[in-house]
Amino acid sequence: VRDAHRALRDATRDEHDRVDAIFGRFDLTDRRSYIDFLLAHAKALLPVEVALDAAGARTWFPDWPDRRRGRLLELDLSQLDSSAASAAPFTLAAHVGDVAGAVYVLEGSRLGGRYLARRVAPALPTSYLDAPQPPGAWPKLLERLDVLLADGEMANRALASARAVFARFEDAGRTWMA
Ligand code: HEM
Repeated sequence: VRDAHRALRDATRDEHDRVDAIFGRFDLTDRRSYIDFLLAHAKALLPVEVALDAAGARTWFPDWPDRRRGRLLELDLSQLDSSAASAAPFTLAAHVGDVAGAVYVLEGSRLGGRYLARRVAPALPTSYLDAPQPPGAWPKLLERLDVLLADGEMANRALASARAVFARFEDAGRTWMA
């Protein structure tokens, strides 16, 4: 598939619109609502990161360990006197397509996160939303996706996996919105 990234993005537009709508409803200027927002992210992100480690993400993405943000999320929560309950495991096959789709969604979520960080009350910790990234990390990831997902079967697996990760965020967001 030429331009595998574009295909993934276009095919998950509805999924993105849904998580955007759900997470946009948390009031990030309010301490309690911001904690709930972070707990929802933790419920989705932490198990997906664990699954990516177990699936050998670094085999295909050597910089994967540097891209993880789970510790920053836990740090923010502990500074807010909170912590994530252990969440249900996320299932991910040790397959390049599955891994690539999940990495795409987690890394893409940083882009919106940066923008959301500006809405957080100044007194609240934002090491997760403001997580630093080496210059060019996103374009580098997209190039890698185009190489790894050149085969249609790989691209299809990546799409299914990306959708599953979006669904996990959507579900976690709904749980904490209640
Ligand atoms: C209120 C919440 C959110 C807002 C306002 C938001 C906003 C955005 C924006 C503005 C971009 C484009 C950034 C750019 O191209 O430079 C983006 C990209 C992206 N976001 Fe979100 N986002 C939100 C939540 C999420 C969540 C929860 C996820 C996934 C767990 C996610 C996944 C992605 C992905 C994968 C991309 C990359 C799209 C591409 O391939 O270009 N976003 N988001």
